[in-house]
Amino acid sequence: MDKIVVEGGARLVGQIPISGAKNAALPLLAAALLPSGASTYHNVPQLADVRTMAKLLGMLGWQVDDARRSLTIAPPAGKAKAKLEAPYELVKTMRASVLVLGPLVARYGRARVSLPGGCAIGARPIDQHLKGLAAMGAKVTLDHGYVDVECKRLRGATIVLDVPTVTGCENLIMAAALAKGRTVIENAAREPEVEELAVVLNKMGAKIQGAGTAVITIEGVDDLHPIEHAIIPDRIEAGTFAVAAAMTRGDVLLEGARPEHLDAVIAKLRAAGVTVAAEAGGLRVRGTGELTAVDLVTQPHPGFPTDMQAQFMVMACLAKGQTVIKEMIFENRYMHVPELGRMGADIRIDGRVAVVRGPVKLTGAKVMATDLRASASLVLAGLVASGKTEVLRVYHLDRGYEAIEKKLRAVGAKIKRAKQ
Ligand code: EPU
Repeated sequence: MDKIVVEGGARLVGQIPISGAKNAALPLLAAALLPSGASTYHNVPQLADVRTMAKLLGMLGWQVDDARRSLTIAPPAGKAKAKLEAPYELVKTMRASVLVLGPLVARYGRARVSLPGGCAIGARPIDQHLKGLAAMGAKVTLDHGYVDVECKRLRGATIVLDVPTVTGCENLIMAAALAKGRTVIENAAREPEVEELAVVLNKMGAKIQGAGTAVITIEGVDDLHPIEHAIIPDRIEAGTFAVAAAMTRGDVLLEGARPEHLDAVIAKLRAAGVTVAAEAGGLRVRGTGELTAVDLVTQPHPGFPTDMQAQFMVMACLAKGQTVIKEMIFENRYMHVPELGRMGADIRIDGRVAVVRGPVKLTGAKVMATDLRASASLVLAGLVASGKTEVLRVYHLDRGYEAIEKKLRAVGAKIKRAKQ
C-alpha cells in the first residue's frame, strides 16, 4: 500500500490542470447503459472510482474500451445478454454503483442492486431513489441485502424529494428519460453534475428541462442514441488546490476550473482574504497575507459544498480567531478532526458543529483518514506543517484525486508517493 509524504513549507506557484469531474463521470458512465450503441466520453479522470464503475459496466455485459482519457462504452455484442445485477462486492467499495439502477430498469425493465449500507461519513440511505422509482410504477422489493426493482415500462410521475439527493436525482432522471409520459422531480438537487447529466442525456435525445434548478421536468422518449462528450472539470479538485494555494501564500492558476461552479467556495475564499480572479485559462488563486476566520455551513448546491468542508477546516487552523463550521449534509464527516489534532490543530466538535481556533503552528505527523476529502485535508495540512507528514491509506485519495502528488509537486510542493 502507498503513502504520501509531504515536507511542509513550500509556497505553491504555477499552474495545475484540473481533471474531469469524478461526480460527473460516474453518472455519465451509468448513462451509457441507456442508448442502443456505443458512447464515448473524453476528459475522463484517471481515478479508482471511475475504474470501479467501468468494471461494474463490464460485469453487466458492456464493453468498456479505455484509451486513458477517452472511454468508449458499448452495449453487449451480438446475442450476449445484459446482466442486470450490481453485486455487493462492488457496491460496498463504491456507493455510486447504485447509479446503474435507474438506467437498467428504464431500459431492461428490471435490476438487482446490492444495498450500499452505511459508510464512513454517514448512514446515506437510498430511500429517495426507491421512492421515486416506486412512484414511476416499479415494484421494489428488498431481500438478502439486495433491492430488486421491476417494471415493464416506467411511467411518468410527480416526485417530491424529501432531501435534494444528488445521486438519487441522477438515478431518477435516467429512469424517467425512457419512461412513458412526463416526470416532474421537485426539490431536485441543483449540483452542476446533475446539470451535466441532463446535458448528456439531452444530447442522446432525451427531453429534460430545468436541470440545475429545483424542479426538473422529463418527457420520456422511446429510445436514446449514442453520443460523444467531454466531461466538465472537477470543481472539488479545483477547490482543494485553491485552498492549497491560499494556505501556502502561493499563486496558482487552476487550469480549466469553472468559476460558475464554485461561487460559494470563491465567496468564502475571498472573505478569508484570498485573492481569486477568473482568467481566460481558468481561475487564479493568490494567498496574500493573514487569513481571516470565516464561518461556514455546508448545504446542497448552490450552498457551500460538504466536499470542501474538511479542506476549509485546515485553512481555518491558520486563520486568526474562531471559526464555526456546521456540517449539515453528512452526520459523521469530521474524521479528519482527531488526525488534525495530532498535528496541533485546536478543534472542538459538538454534534454537527466544529469550532476551530487559530492561528496554530501545525507540525508534521503520521496521519490517516477513512474518507476521500478527509484524506485531502491531511495533505493540505502537510503542505504547511513543519517537518514531515505521512498520509497513510492513500487509496482514499486515489478514489477522487488524479495524481495529486504530481500536480502539487509541479507547483513546488515537496511531496512524493512511497510504499507504506
Ligand atoms: N439521503 C437520504 N435518502 C436518500 C439519499 C440521500 O436521506 O435516498 C441523504 C443523505 O444521507 C445525505 C443527503 O441526503 O444526508 C445528501 O446525500 P446525497 O444523496 O446528495 O449524496 P450522494 O448522492 O450519495 C453525492 C456525491 C458526494 C457528495 C454528496 C453531497 C457522487 C457520486 N457523490 O453523494 O461526493 O458529498 O453528493 O454533495 O456524486 C465525494 O466526492 O467525496 C462525495 C462523497
